[in-house]
Amino acid sequence: MSDYLIELDSFEEKIISQLQQHPILRSLNTFSNPKLEDILLQKRWISLHFTPFYDIAICTFKSEEARTIAKEIVREEYLDSNHREDLVNDLIRCGLSRERIVSAKPSSETKKTVANLYQLVGWNNHYDLRAALALRIAGEVLPGEENKVILDELQRRYQLTTDQLPHYALHAAHDRKKVPFGIESSSHADRFGTVITHLVDSAEKVELAKTIMGAAYHVRADFYDQFHTEGEK
Ligand SMILES: [Fe+2]
Ligand SMILES: [Fe+2]
Repeated sequence: MSDYLIELDSFEEKIISQLQQHPILRSLNTFSNPKLEDILLQKRWISLHFTPFYDIAICTFKSEEARTIAKEIVREEYLDSNHREDLVNDLIRCGLSRERIVSAKPSSETKKTVANLYQLVGWNNHYDLRAALALRIAGEVLPGEENKVILDELQRRYQLTTDQLPHYALHAAHDRKKVPFGIESSSHADRFGTVITHLVDSAEKVELAKTIMGAAYHVRADFYDQFHTEGEK
C-alpha cells in the first residue's frame, strides 16, 4: 500500500471508531422503545433519499469506473426487493404500525442532514474524488456501522433473528468496510476503494480526501446529535 493509501486508511479507521463512540449510538440499549423508534423513523428519511443521492453523482461523474460502481450499487437496491420497503417491514416486525411509520415527518435536523448529504455530491472541483468519497463514507462505510449497532440492539430488544430484520441485517453485512483502503473486495464500501486509489495521486489530494471524509463523517454523526436529551450533551 502506498503512503497515501496508508494515510487515508488510518484516517478512515479513525472516523469509523469515532462514529462507533457516538454517545447516542453507544446508548441505544438504555433508550425507551419510543425513543429508539423515533431515531429509526428519522433515519428512515435518510434511507428514502439514498437513490437520488447516488443518482446525482452518477449523472455528474466523469470517471466511467466510478459511475459503473455507483450504478451497480443502485441496481442492487432493487434487485430482490426494494430496500426502503424492507425497512418498513423490519420496523413493523419491531412492533410499529405501518400507519405510524409512513406518517412520521422528518424533523428540521433530519431535513438538514438530507440537505447536507446532497451538498456532498453537489457540483464542485475535483468532483470525481469528492463524490466517490461521499458515496463511500456517507453512503456505505458509516451507514454500515450504524446499521450493525441498530441490528444488534433490535435483536436484543425484540428477540428477532437477522432473517426477520433483512433491511438492517443486509446493510450491516454488505455496506461496511471489510478490507484496507484500495484492496478489492465486494462490500459496497470497498468497491469504491480502487477508483479512489486512482484519483488520489498527490499529497494535496490526500489532504483534500481527508477534508471530504471528515465532512461526510459530520453529516452522519451530526444527525444523531438531535437525539440528545436536555443536559445530556
Ligand atoms: Fe440498500
Ligand atoms: Fe450499500
